[in-house]
Amino acid sequence: MIIRQAIILLIFISFSSQRKTIDLLLSYNLEDPTRYQLKTSYGFDDSRKQHDYSKTDSDEPNTENHFDDENSTDESSLNDEELDLLQPENPTEGISVLYAQPEQIHLSIGTNVSTFVVTWQTMSPTPVPTCKYGRNGMIKIATGDTTLFIDGGKEKLKRYIHKVQLENLIPQQKYVYHCGSSLGWSEEFWFKSLDPSESWAPTLAVYGDLGNINGRSLPYLQEETQRSRFDAILHVGDFAYDMRDAEGEVGDQFMRQIEPIAAYVPYMVSPGNHEEAYNFSHYRYRFNMPNSEETENLFYEFKLGPVQFISINTEAYYFLEYGIKIVVKQYMWLVEVLKEANKPENRARWPWIITYGHRPMYCSDDDGDDCTKRSSRVRSGLPVVNWFGLENLFYESGVDLEIWAHEHSYERLWPVYEHKVYNGSNSAPYVNPNAPVHVISGSAGCQENTDRFIKHPMAWSAFRNSDYGYARLKILNHTHLYMEQVSAEKEGDIIDSFWLIKDQHGPYSKK
Ligand SMILES: [Fe+2]
Repeated sequence: MIIRQAIILLIFISFSSQRKTIDLLLSYNLEDPTRYQLKTSYGFDDSRKQHDYSKTDSDEPNTENHFDDENSTDESSLNDEELDLLQPENPTEGISVLYAQPEQIHLSIGTNVSTFVVTWQTMSPTPVPTCKYGRNGMIKIATGDTTLFIDGGKEKLKRYIHKVQLENLIPQQKYVYHCGSSLGWSEEFWFKSLDPSESWAPTLAVYGDLGNINGRSLPYLQEETQRSRFDAILHVGDFAYDMRDAEGEVGDQFMRQIEPIAAYVPYMVSPGNHEEAYNFSHYRYRFNMPNSEETENLFYEFKLGPVQFISINTEAYYFLEYGIKIVVKQYMWLVEVLKEANKPENRARWPWIITYGHRPMYCSDDDGDDCTKRSSRVRSGLPVVNWFGLENLFYESGVDLEIWAHEHSYERLWPVYEHKVYNGSNSAPYVNPNAPVHVISGSAGCQENTDRFIKHPMAWSAFRNSDYGYARLKILNHTHLYMEQVSAEKEGDIIDSFWLIKDQHGPYSKK
């Protein structure tokens, strides 16, 4: 037994190019807050840091962008112009207002559904970021903070990401808002606040893999959002193609294009492989998901109606050059979150557990991606050692629905565990199934076009289609959930739909 463990450890050391990764794994401590102290405010508090994400877990701090002392007031990275702007009494001196104009406004759910986070960007530093908002005109004021984001490209372009929280929103009310600073304001937007009740029935749009070029679903999503058909969006990885391109301008353009969606409903995201550049820095900086201070948007959870949504970072299993610390941290976090979710009092309030992450465990496309293999990493764990696989954890925790993307197609699976189908019954497969249901919706549209399928899929594949499109998800109550796939090629026709019905939720029983 000892010899076997030693062999496994040696193999593991050999596939990991970083020796320190092992140390990190062995010395892993969930309570150590310093490891994820990566993104902090700029200009308005003392904890200013700019983390270089292109460094791996084991790299030493980057002194170029890094203040050594957490409480330092060293402002050496700021030029005179920027320092002037931090003095609110004379905000416009020496700066072009053009570059202080707010753009790329987008919303996300905050610490709970009664708090919305507004995020936007300027190309210059601005005085205190501020939102004016209210139900009867913009009569309330909230202020926030700013983060300096330095792109990893040649030009090292600076962007200023502003974040303001709108708290204690009254449920299901239409609010208007605009944001900016004394150097410039956005136009007026609106949103309908969410309902914190567990009996509320939210509707979401769900998709992955939406690019600037050939973003075929975008007009449909913009139109539906403007007609108030969605309460929130889940974008399950792969944005813009890629946000880092053209010194980040491709990312800017993407964020402008989704503004007719994302400024009106919470735009909830997961990281995909196209966000990998500079250790996912564009993804980490441009969004503000729940608990972003701790996990940099890479994984998080939130409750909405009778659902606990859990967003996961599948990319940690593939970009191992950044270290496996993030795999370990996420896995341990998932264990705790799912344990808490399954406490009887919690599962009674939020019976549905829905996960979403970019790369699927299963798929039957013909592109040779990892999900086409029998033991994909997300499903079975890291290569060779098979550590931190998620299928067992999700099965044992009674996850109801697992949403994926990455494959540029749509695929619905029968309830499945370890490649075996666990339908509720032959006549009603999705009524009280005995395993999680998987859905892949990664065909929102991008320049890489759509993917094709293998001719003879496994028994777990229930329905497949390669039209461009996106999914709608409605959770009606504690027992009924409905999902459908819209085709952007067939003018919005529904090409697939199913009801998932569960009288009881909880861990599955192995039969
Ligand atoms: Fe992808």
